[in-house]
Amino acid sequence: MQELARRDYADVVVVDIKEGLPEGKALDINQAGAVLGYEPNVTGSTSYEPTAGSEVVVVTAGLPRQPGMSRDDLVTTNEKIVGSVTEQVVAQSPDAVLIVVSNPLDAMCHVAKKVSGFPKERVFGQAGILDSARFQAFIAWETGASVKDVQAVVLGGHGDQMVSVVSATTVGGVPLTKLVSAERIAEMVERTAKGGGEVVELLGTSAWYAPGAASAQMVDAIMLDEKRVLPCTAYLEGEYGIDGLYMGVPAKLGAQGIEAIIELDLTDDEQAALEASANAVREVVGVLGS
Ligand code: 2OP
Repeated sequence: MQELARRDYADVVVVDIKEGLPEGKALDINQAGAVLGYEPNVTGSTSYEPTAGSEVVVVTAGLPRQPGMSRDDLVTTNEKIVGSVTEQVVAQSPDAVLIVVSNPLDAMCHVAKKVSGFPKERVFGQAGILDSARFQAFIAWETGASVKDVQAVVLGGHGDQMVSVVSATTVGGVPLTKLVSAERIAEMVERTAKGGGEVVELLGTSAWYAPGAASAQMVDAIMLDEKRVLPCTAYLEGEYGIDGLYMGVPAKLGAQGIEAIIELDLTDDEQAALEASANAVREVVGVLGS
């Protein structure tokens, strides 16, 4: 929330079911603006009414992971929570773009799409920016390069079978495979896939800063109509050979939401890994009530 308030281009409403929490957060974030130099209205509420007419809504509701839990362990509980939140959001903001962050992410996008009845362009998820950020950080540490010069993209489901696209990963334009041994790359890919769990084990709950920064980057692209190509969890209808499923792919984000899905040339191994990831997502989606 503060990430968004600091942008200073839109008012922000924070909703939570816990009385006092959203109001207190809003007050604190507003007061920080006096020091940091931002001044949008930040409102906290337990009701959805102040959100009326929102252009973008970020749905983070749901139980977070605890140590030892996979994202998929949350599916049944969070299906109910995300379903109810989506219903209340769309009643207030029928034209909003919905960005889902709740886990298990890919399945929760299906819930939000179904409950909202919104077109696929206006319902999608944040995962790929976060997963790519983790891979980028590991690569920067490994190579000693600035993270700003590391280009990487992680696709697929937001689970242990996510696909780090090594063939499209470069440091200052140089392919990663020319800089780092295959063995170390494989270790970084593995650490990326388990990156959320690594933080959960340390903190006892989900990561906070990187998911927040990643979500805010998506909001920027929409609010400012930036046409950024960012990895998003988008509803696929044949792209990458996958049909009727939410999966992480590069997408062009602008004022209309997802304006195009970009199809990278994957190696055979990467395409096979993407299909395996799709199968894992399908299994979780299959657990959702109809
Ligand atoms: C993560 O990967 C919370 O799923 C999120 O950290």
